[in-house]
Amino acid sequence: MIRRVVLALDDRLGTAHFMRKALRKAFPDHWSFMLGEIALYCFVVLLATGTYLGFFFDASAQPITYNGSYPSLHGIQMSAAYASVLRLSLDIRAGLLLRQIHHWAALVFVAAITVHMCRIFFTGAFRRPRELNWIVGLVLLILALGAGFTGYSLPDDLLSGTGLRIAYSVLLSVPVVGGYLAFLFFGGDFPATQTIGRLFFTHVLVLPALLVAAMAIHLGMIWRQKHTQFRGPGRTENNVIGSPLWPNYAMKSVGLLFAVAAILTALGAFFQINPIWLYGPYNPANVSSPAQPDWYIGWLEGALRLGPSWDWQIFNHTIPAPFFAGVLLPLVFFTLLFVWPFLERRITHDGQPHQLLDHPSDVPWRTGVGAAVLAFAIVLTFAGSDDVQAKIVGISVERLVNLYRIMLLVLPVAVGLLTFQFARELRARRNALAEAGTRIAISRTDSGGFAEQPEKDARRP
Ligand code: HEM
Repeated sequence: MIRRVVLALDDRLGTAHFMRKALRKAFPDHWSFMLGEIALYCFVVLLATGTYLGFFFDASAQPITYNGSYPSLHGIQMSAAYASVLRLSLDIRAGLLLRQIHHWAALVFVAAITVHMCRIFFTGAFRRPRELNWIVGLVLLILALGAGFTGYSLPDDLLSGTGLRIAYSVLLSVPVVGGYLAFLFFGGDFPATQTIGRLFFTHVLVLPALLVAAMAIHLGMIWRQKHTQFRGPGRTENNVIGSPLWPNYAMKSVGLLFAVAAILTALGAFFQINPIWLYGPYNPANVSSPAQPDWYIGWLEGALRLGPSWDWQIFNHTIPAPFFAGVLLPLVFFTLLFVWPFLERRITHDGQPHQLLDHPSDVPWRTGVGAAVLAFAIVLTFAGSDDVQAKIVGISVERLVNLYRIMLLVLPVAVGLLTFQFARELRARRNALAEAGTRIAISRTDSGGFAEQPEKDARRP
């Protein structure tokens, strides 16, 4: 039957030629090439679980008095949206499990994208001819951050409502157009009755559709340009050495899909996440403590906490403090990322196409810059929970803020310089051994560690 269907399709569409070529396409093997796929499969899990949640979520700010199955909230006024998420969590069969899997999948999705992006950066995979795909990738990252934040805000609980209020203030701080932007996204002065409806539409239709479109372009470009590969025996700028798409690569990839789905399901089943019934419904007069966003918004939260308290008056317009840390900083950060491939080309005068990847130590200055930027983002992320740390350590939040401000200036420079030096020494050592015609042999030691020894008279491949 399969043969008849395939023949009939080939007869009408001439698919056999394309399929024969496609199924034999070679994919280079390296564990780090799985990172993009992990992101892809998290997205699949997000779509599947989100569809189920969508059946029960009520995107309405309609005030109701709760009288459901959770006695601690009886008699409390809340939005229909919050009440529907309570019902999903406590009454709907498998609702809590799917909510938790969905939330975990979102966290792992952005983490996989971030690590994938670091792999692309540190191996120079963004160089010609892949600059455009680097840009599409960054669009994917921004869309993923937007999808995470809008989803997190839907339940209308005290924690996410506080996050929304911050986002509203940051939007308002944009000079000239801030008021219009805030009105567009929130549908009125905060807290507006239209906000949840707009967030819902953006979260379940606009952003997923854009994500699917951008992913199709991203993967289409990889297919067309072929995958890069690390240097190794027989690998050149003009060939691709790896497993064929069918059956090796396809089977491995399907296995990865099952593994990702299984791990996310286990996380959702065993590790509680976002128990909104403990936070209570959003009320503008209340703020809970501790109040931290999901990890990928932590750096923005940290930036707002450490940012300068400037209020500038320019041409009769006030530019308030949240603008510098909440708008300008991410704008500069993402602009730098978008132009990086072109900036690097200007610095190195290397406009040649590259199919072979760099080892991070091959280009110490790039690796140093990347490490410095990562250190900057990590300090900001930690600063985003300084209130909790102040409580644990027993010092005042103000002192911790000052400490983090100093760390933000010092640590990235120190980490960048150290990484640069480390990478340079690794490169020099490798070059010296290569010149001597020596290969390094790595063997296990008795205690279970690794030992490196020059392998005499063996030529480097
Ligand atoms: C939803 C987010 C994303 C998904 C699902 C995704 C998916 C993938 C997949 C499956 C691959 C091939 C395997 C691999 O190299 O890992 C890939 C390669 C690539 N990705 Fe992404 N990606 C995403 C985000 C990003 C981001 C944020 C960037 C960079 C800013 C990026 C830049 C690239 C580039 C340049 C390649 C080609 C790499 C090469 O040939 O070595 N991607 N992506």
